[in-house]
Amino acid sequence: MSEQNSMKKIVIHSAGGYDKLKIEQHPLPSLSQGEVLIKTKAIGINYADCCVRWGVYESAKKFVGWPITPGFEFSGIVVESKSNKFKKNDEVFGLTRFDAYATHVKVPEYQLFIKPQKLSFSEAAGFTAAYMTAYHALFHHLILPEKAHILVHSAGGGVGSCLVQLAKVKNHKVYAVVGSSHKVNFVKSLGADHVIDKSSQDLWGEIKKLTPDGLDLILDANGPETFRKGFHHLKPMGKLMVYGSHTLLPKKGGKINYLVTGFKLLKNFYINPIKLISENKGVIGFNLSFLFEHTELFSECIHQLIKWYEEGKILAPKTTEFAFEDVAKAHQMIESGQSTGKLVLVV
Ligand SMILES: NC(=O)c1ccc[n+]([C@@H]2O[C@H](COP(=O)([O-])OP(=O)(O)OC[C@H]3O[C@@H](n4cnc5c(N)ncnc54)[C@H](OP(=O)(O)O)[C@@H]3O)[C@@H](O)[C@H]2O)c1
Repeated sequence: MSEQNSMKKIVIHSAGGYDKLKIEQHPLPSLSQGEVLIKTKAIGINYADCCVRWGVYESAKKFVGWPITPGFEFSGIVVESKSNKFKKNDEVFGLTRFDAYATHVKVPEYQLFIKPQKLSFSEAAGFTAAYMTAYHALFHHLILPEKAHILVHSAGGGVGSCLVQLAKVKNHKVYAVVGSSHKVNFVKSLGADHVIDKSSQDLWGEIKKLTPDGLDLILDANGPETFRKGFHHLKPMGKLMVYGSHTLLPKKGGKINYLVTGFKLLKNFYINPIKLISENKGVIGFNLSFLFEHTELFSECIHQLIKWYEEGKILAPKTTEFAFEDVAKAHQMIESGQSTGKLVLVV
């Protein structure tokens, strides 16, 4: 395989720790009509990539299996195009269902966008997955009252920091929750009305004081640790939106202790749908990685998000860069729960 016809990919052959992230040489993919090949400049890291490595990510099991190259988002330069929308040397960014941890990525044209000039390649690589998730959560599933009272868990993280900003674009009241004190100022700078540091404050006591009538919406990717109490703090017509369960998973070591996870699962919150009728509350769940066939979602979200970015209503993601070869360090960092904003691999 010559250097010119090949690419480097990070490949995982079976579930496990950081040592499973192997850099391999593979042939460049060939393109079908409507597809584009991009030489990546930067790749966004998402918490879900660790779940893929652990072998617990449902859509990875369903759509790929082993071996798998993780990665949902990237930025780079078009090297070959079978699309009328993109040409060689265009600076682009986009989404893919896996395979972004590579020097080259092939995507259908609807998953690709021209990079705004003032967005750096690193910022562009970290823009799509988190902002799209936040946009989908807030604007595709429910109709919120004006100035809704919204609680955002893990508000200093990738998705959380986008949720705070998008909720403020619509003038809602945002109660942002963080798990460590060093995240407080960052989340305040995003415009949150109140930041609750659950490492030093009583989360639900504070919420009761701040919103005695209850919350309109809770955005929760924590899992059983907060589902039940959150549900009880909703006001009538309030919604609990569930889109992850990271507190079931380890913060260090890179490996799942299934006994600990199983024990935590015993505390899971089960809801009887009939009870929802008299409570006047709702529970909603989603996972975007199962929605890639809904192509209309992509352009609507991204065009609106780019517009808001260009109007100064939302910020470029705060990024921390890692070299492509240091992917294990990036996984270690996002797993620790200590990172703020987005982590990206620089190719
Ligand atoms: N359903 C979807 O379509 C979708 C799409 C994207 C992301 N997600 C989910 O959204 C969540 C955030 O994703 P992200 O990529 O933006 O990550 P992130 O928020 O940058 O990092 C995860 C955050 O979760 C918190 N956390 C709590 N317990 C943890 C634990 N045991 N291990 C690690 N972190 C823990 C930490 O913040 P605090 O300690 O401050 O709470 C940490 O910063 C993840 O659960 C992810 O799977 C879902």
